[in-house]
Amino acid sequence: MKSFAHKDIIALRDLSKEEIELLISTAETMREINNRPIKKVPTLRGRTVINLFYEASTRTRTSFEIAAKRLSADLVNISPSTSSSTKGETLSDTALNLLAMKPDIIVMRHSASGAHYFLSKRLPTCSVINAGDGTHEHPSQGLLDMLTMKDRFGRLDGLKVAIVGDITHSRVARSNIQGLTKMGSHIFVAGPPTMVPPGVEKLGNVTACSTMKEAIEDADVVMMLRIQQERQGKTLMPSTGEYAKYFGLNPVNLKLAKPDAMVMHPGPINRGVEMSSFVVDGNQAHILKQVENGVAVRMAMLYHVIGGEPE
Ligand code: NCD
Repeated sequence: MKSFAHKDIIALRDLSKEEIELLISTAETMREINNRPIKKVPTLRGRTVINLFYEASTRTRTSFEIAAKRLSADLVNISPSTSSSTKGETLSDTALNLLAMKPDIIVMRHSASGAHYFLSKRLPTCSVINAGDGTHEHPSQGLLDMLTMKDRFGRLDGLKVAIVGDITHSRVARSNIQGLTKMGSHIFVAGPPTMVPPGVEKLGNVTACSTMKEAIEDADVVMMLRIQQERQGKTLMPSTGEYAKYFGLNPVNLKLAKPDAMVMHPGPINRGVEMSSFVVDGNQAHILKQVENGVAVRMAMLYHVIGGEPE
């Protein structure tokens, strides 16, 4: 039986193709639990999970909470406004204090890229799962995105995946690039020049395009990103109207992609900016399917970091 050798999941960059496949296939198995009338199994009974979110979240935090509860873990939520970080406590001290209460897994979202590696070193007896760190990675989002693409195409190998928007500040883009490259997809990125990092090609099987048209032409998947204004030091575009004109997805430019292309977005969506409502609510959008798959993926992540074996 295949096993997962990592205590933590911090970045898809750190995982092999086989480990990513294992997480995705476990998530496929976990999905069955989410469709039962009684959505609970005893797998993580007696385990304690702490959700430590230093940044806003709707989907990811709720999804990890539901995932932990469906596996019968005890879950505690800590948010910045209620944590002692507002009183000046360092991340290291918060971590050591939480560790004293013997949690099994800490799921953290933090604005500092790399904060989880720091946390992991201080918590040798507790698993750390990254729910998004600054502009670095968002592995659970990358995994749920890949599962949703696999559901649609039955494979990831050979897909043309366009990622459009604020690539520079997107941890979602980075996790998808790391994961999809390992799975054999080809990624085409496009965005305003101020939002596409130089050297992005070096991250994996990535082609940087100068126009949105080039990126989405004949694409199997069109993944749109929100402009991460909270991470931009200054405004990197003249106006949202101009952004929508050149980098927004609408029913007209969507026709450039393959006829059955799937449209994705990690949320939250700014309707009328990165995507028109026609596309968000249209039949090519798989956005709510991504959210649905998120629970199963996070169940798989929680299960494997504490050494679970596939049933
Ligand atoms: C993303 C994030 O937080 O990085 N959201 C999410 O987790 N679903 C994307 C975003 O905030 O734009």
